[in-house]
Amino acid sequence: MKLAVPRETAPGERRVALTPDAVAALVKSGIEVMVEAGAGAGAFHSDADFQTAGARIVPDAATLYGEADVVAKVQRPTADEVNRFREGTVLVAYLQALSSPDLVQQLASRRITSFGMEGIPRISRAQKMDALSSQANIAGYKAVLIASESLAKFFPMLMTAAGTVFAARVLVIGAGVAGLQAIATARRLGAQVWGYDVRAAVKEQVESLGAKFLQFDLGVADAEDKGGYAKALTEEQSRRQQDMLAEKTKEFDVVVTTALVPGRTAPRLITKETVAGMRPGSVIVDLAAEAGGNCELTRPDEIVVEHGVTIHGPTNLPATMPVHASQLYARNVTELLRELVKDGALAIDFEDEIVRGACVTHGGEVVSEAVRTALAARNAS
Ligand code: NAI
Repeated sequence: MKLAVPRETAPGERRVALTPDAVAALVKSGIEVMVEAGAGAGAFHSDADFQTAGARIVPDAATLYGEADVVAKVQRPTADEVNRFREGTVLVAYLQALSSPDLVQQLASRRITSFGMEGIPRISRAQKMDALSSQANIAGYKAVLIASESLAKFFPMLMTAAGTVFAARVLVIGAGVAGLQAIATARRLGAQVWGYDVRAAVKEQVESLGAKFLQFDLGVADAEDKGGYAKALTEEQSRRQQDMLAEKTKEFDVVVTTALVPGRTAPRLITKETVAGMRPGSVIVDLAAEAGGNCELTRPDEIVVEHGVTIHGPTNLPATMPVHASQLYARNVTELLRELVKDGALAIDFEDEIVRGACVTHGGEVVSEAVRTALAARNAS
């Protein structure tokens, strides 16, 4: 079986799907690995490193895709790339399938067996494959560094001969993977930190990181679904939440937002009126920028300044830390491949829970129920 690792082509993407260490382990398990020349450059892995790990360097994407049985990527492929895959190729990448109807149709019609890393279920057995978590962790960390760089104040409390400086006050909204890492990072920098989430179950986790938990009564009896994810709020609950946050955010120097309900546009938490009420000099880092933003004024990959409040909307923070992001993603991909390949040959069990969660297209069909439902809803609207 030939496994191919292309050079990522998305603007600003510096990660690579497999690192030399991961390649060495796969080669040892009997898989033939081909790497496109320059694929690891953004993450500081040279072609020679991959060669030493046992990979064959291939000069260009056309040659690579022409031979590949399995393609491991970070970003979803472009239409042009999909056209270059051989029929029946197995693809592993972040497909963002719920919001990429055209790509999904194209993958099905090209008879690609595609796996979306975003579909790996958050169950114990799949933890090592959970790329959403490994990359969100990086985003939470980096969001706080961006905030600290942008804030015209110290994060920690300082007692100096010239007087005492009080610690910055940081609010992290959404205490999932990114949010908890943001809380931990802001604490490490010495800020006073509060966490907030609709799921009261995370209160303990927030407090265990040394932060305080903000609690609002939104009249939500059970904010969590069976999978442990937040349910979307009703219009009335959402309005109440916005009103409460409008009051609360006035007390903070930094607000990091990470609120997400899978498969939906980002919940709107901070309106433009709320921003107008915040203290000039405050900073918002909105990690949900790509999904529409938790803040009404966020613009993807831009820095907006309104009423003296700086709003960052970075959409790909993992790519700004390509060494560790690639290392962790490569581990996630390797673990998934171990599920799909036995003794050096593809052996996919389509009844397996992980395969059912992550497999989007196979045999010319869209096989993921969640993706089929999202596509049908889109077609109906
Ligand atoms: P997660 O699902 O672990 O956490 C999201 C949290 O938001 C959950 O705890 C949920 O209960 C909470 N939430 C949902 N609706 C809420 C509401 N109305 N009010 C308060 N809390 C609410 O997700 P994860 O992995 O932590 O990702 C968080 C966000 O970061 C996502 O939007 C994701 O797309 C984004 N992300 C951004 C990156 C970037 O570079 N900008 C990179 C990686 C992730």
